[in-house]
Amino acid sequence: MIDYLELIKLMSERRSNILIDAQVPVEMADITSLCDAAMLAPNHKRTWPLRLAVVQGDARSQLGELIADIMASQGDDPSKVLRTRTKYLRAPVVIVLGARDGDSGQRSRENRYAVAAGAQNMLLIAQALGLAMLWSSPATGANDAISDFCDFEHHTEILGLMYLGHASSAAPDVPRPPTPVTWVT
Ligand SMILES: Cc1cc2nc3c(=O)[nH]c(=O)nc-3n(C[C@H](O)[C@H](O)[C@H](O)COP(=O)(O)O)c2cc1C
Repeated sequence: MIDYLELIKLMSERRSNILIDAQVPVEMADITSLCDAAMLAPNHKRTWPLRLAVVQGDARSQLGELIADIMASQGDDPSKVLRTRTKYLRAPVVIVLGARDGDSGQRSRENRYAVAAGAQNMLLIAQALGLAMLWSSPATGANDAISDFCDFEHHTEILGLMYLGHASSAAPDVPRPPTPVTWVT
């Protein structure tokens, strides 16, 4: 049994960190550990909705160009479009996190919750391995293009693009407000 205080410490010390040295690779075994940890999250009805794509090398700029082209076609801010073209080169690894759709709105929502729980598992394993990670949101309008790029099933919802690598600097602390708990007796 692990000491729960160690687990709390791990959770408390985890920070979203995009200050990553893009030149330093991540061990394949570490990437695999993170992916396997995401699969350990609960899911309702055993739908196993998690879909992951590990994007590395030239594929990172292909992904950025793809998303930037969609943003440009939608008339998004040109400076954001330009930044997007190279943004995934900020880390040696980008893990795309998808949730399969369900056979009802409720099931799709639950699939999404299951994958989000898996994302936290990944973030904690990254922290335990001494790696930096940041969950970033997909651009509006780019869901299906990202899903196709990753070879996911149609209608897979992209929940995030997770930057992963070795930190170049520590991320600033993010103090939490008091926990909003209602005690009902
Ligand atoms: C669903 C989700 C989407 C996020 N998208 C972004 C994003 O697009 N860009 C970003 O810088 N951070 C993003 N974050 C990270 C949050 O900014 C970060 O978790 C928050 O500032 C709290 O910091 P902490 O993770 O260090 O506790 C996202 C987090 C979640 C859960």
